[in-house]
Amino acid sequence: MKDSVKDNKSDNVRKMFKSISGRYDLLNTLITFGRDKSWRKYVIQEASLKQNALILDVGTGTGGILREAFRSNKSIKAFGADFTMEMMLAGREGKNIISWCCADALNLPFPDAVFDAVTSGYLIRNVADIRRAFTEQVRTVKLGGRVVCLETSPPPQDILRPLILLYLNFIIPALGLIFAGNKNAYRYLTSSTEVFKTPEEISIIMRDAGLKDIKFKRFMFGTIAVLSGVRP
Ligand SMILES: C[S@@+](CC[C@H](N)C(=O)[O-])C[C@H]1O[C@@H](n2cnc3c(N)ncnc32)[C@H](O)[C@@H]1O
Repeated sequence: MKDSVKDNKSDNVRKMFKSISGRYDLLNTLITFGRDKSWRKYVIQEASLKQNALILDVGTGTGGILREAFRSNKSIKAFGADFTMEMMLAGREGKNIISWCCADALNLPFPDAVFDAVTSGYLIRNVADIRRAFTEQVRTVKLGGRVVCLETSPPPQDILRPLILLYLNFIIPALGLIFAGNKNAYRYLTSSTEVFKTPEEISIIMRDAGLKDIKFKRFMFGTIAVLSGVRP
């Protein structure tokens, strides 16, 4: 992808998340029937965090993955990086357990091999260069550390596909309009999901970025996947 096209994609993504930041968590819970929490829990399980582990969540948004990490292990030190300030501001609440950092996933401002695990939730579909995003995650995770990715997947070609497409194309944008006043952002969510890479294809990119022992698990009728790999 040309640099100008990449910049354009990043600008559009940032504007879109800025516009829905105040309603992001609510909509997420609504459109996933409240299942989003359990997938984040699974991400943390896959991250295998030990006592006092350092975790980085890239494209952290409102910090949902890190709050889940903290619930399961109070000794961790959590860093959240995102390039949409408004998403992070919307996620700041009560006792601040997250060190927030405004940063681009394609150019992380952290030294090599510092984190015990690097996670991301619904980031990879939005970045202009998937391979580079994973390369940055691999660079910043320690040797033997885990990179875990939660992402939507195109609906599988099975009997449920027409129903899932109906839900993606009509119900989700309608919910976006009613609860966030923004139909287009939720149209983007569904259209980008429909044409996005399968977990098998993402696994290949993760391998090319330097990870080994890559595996994935699907959820929600195959429309959600959690992938993980280890830095050798
Ligand atoms: C769909 S939200 C996901 C938020 C959170 N991870 C979750 O699990 O709910 C995607 C987030 O990725 C961020 N993002 C997209 N591209 C990015 C990039 N290149 N660098 C940093 N953040 C990015 C957006 O600003 C947004 O907050």
